[in-house]
Amino acid sequence: MTLERLDAALLREVEALEAEGRAKAPERVITGYLPPEGERGPRYRLRGVDREFIRMNSNSYLSLSNHPALIEAADRATRDFGVGPGAVRFIDGTFVHHVELEERIAAFMGRPAARIFNSAYTANLGLALAISSKQTFWIGDELNHNSIIRAMRIAAVPRENKAIFRHNDVDDLKQCLEGVPEGIDRVIVIFDGIFSMRGDNAPLAAIDAACAPYRDRWPEGLVTVVDDSHGIGAYGATGRGTEEHTGARADIVVGTFGKAFGVNGGFVAASEAVVEAIRQKADTYIYTNPLSVADAAAAKVAVDLTDGEEGRERLANLLDRTRRFREGITELGWESIPGPHPVVPLLVRDTARTRALVRYFFDDGVLVVGLTFPVVPKGDETIRFQVNAAHTPADIDRVLGVLESFPG
Ligand SMILES: Cc1ncc(COP(=O)(O)O)c(C=O)c1O
Repeated sequence: MTLERLDAALLREVEALEAEGRAKAPERVITGYLPPEGERGPRYRLRGVDREFIRMNSNSYLSLSNHPALIEAADRATRDFGVGPGAVRFIDGTFVHHVELEERIAAFMGRPAARIFNSAYTANLGLALAISSKQTFWIGDELNHNSIIRAMRIAAVPRENKAIFRHNDVDDLKQCLEGVPEGIDRVIVIFDGIFSMRGDNAPLAAIDAACAPYRDRWPEGLVTVVDDSHGIGAYGATGRGTEEHTGARADIVVGTFGKAFGVNGGFVAASEAVVEAIRQKADTYIYTNPLSVADAAAAKVAVDLTDGEEGRERLANLLDRTRRFREGITELGWESIPGPHPVVPLLVRDTARTRALVRYFFDDGVLVVGLTFPVVPKGDETIRFQVNAAHTPADIDRVLGVLESFPG
């Protein structure tokens, strides 16, 4: 047995990605974490680089990943039960921390029940397997996350049973609803709550109103699903995400513990029947080990903290730093997409300039993400900044200072 032929074929495929400009850059390796000190927020060390970095590319919006209460909860759960579950959920791999986390996140999202997954990615796949049928029609926003697109594929939704509406365009959504063919039993309208590359939110109230006249059109109804992975914890007055921000609700919510909550894992919050269907039908739930008890215990503490006074304080910090940063980039004459979310895109609109700016930030100790053609269309080249609650005003000013000094 040799991998020679396969290796050669795969190398050609990766070279093609490189030639198209779609290949991922080599991964940087974090080797050190420096806790906040005085005026300075957390810093990171990278392998092979003699410099400290501010992370402006972390999804850990509330900066809970290094919170002593989460670390203590993870430690205690590990001491009590060990590091691995030993089996999948239905073969006695269900521990008290899994169940408590499900109850806690269901209550936080105001839903009767919830089911946890290893990630929001696998939650979307599992949800699709659980709620799709041969006569289900899917309608999604054109900028939906990759996991939603994959979810429709894994659920074997045929081309003729799906439609895509223009980003946040409710009139186009109505057109899609009008175009649902004969013979359909149920319709699922699915969209990101916060769009991760832009920081804008789905117009949930308008989507709900657009769907209302269609609710009784199909025998098994119309269901809205919001994947609010970037919103929950980080958005809305109490961190309940896009639903809270817009004052409207979706029928099913998908979220993650791996962003604002600072841990790992995903979830679906919905009715008891949907959650039981997941347990019975969602392969990405059934046939894989669950989160470790350490992750589950830490995530529950993260939800508790978010739902209390400390969460409010962290959210207030996050809003304040985000506002400071957004105002700063506008004052410096750069273009962004307005809004209160901590994803702050800087629209550079040129591939070479975006690359040069990403490099310039790196050389000055700031980690950011650049999106260039062909990953985004020509003219949409962007740098994505993500503000976290532990960034200090001095950190924000330092990043703005680097931007101001960029000679390009
Ligand atoms: C909308 C959306 N869904 C799902 C995910 C995946 O989250 P997780 O890391 O929990 O799989 C992301 C994150 O990149 C996302 O933006």
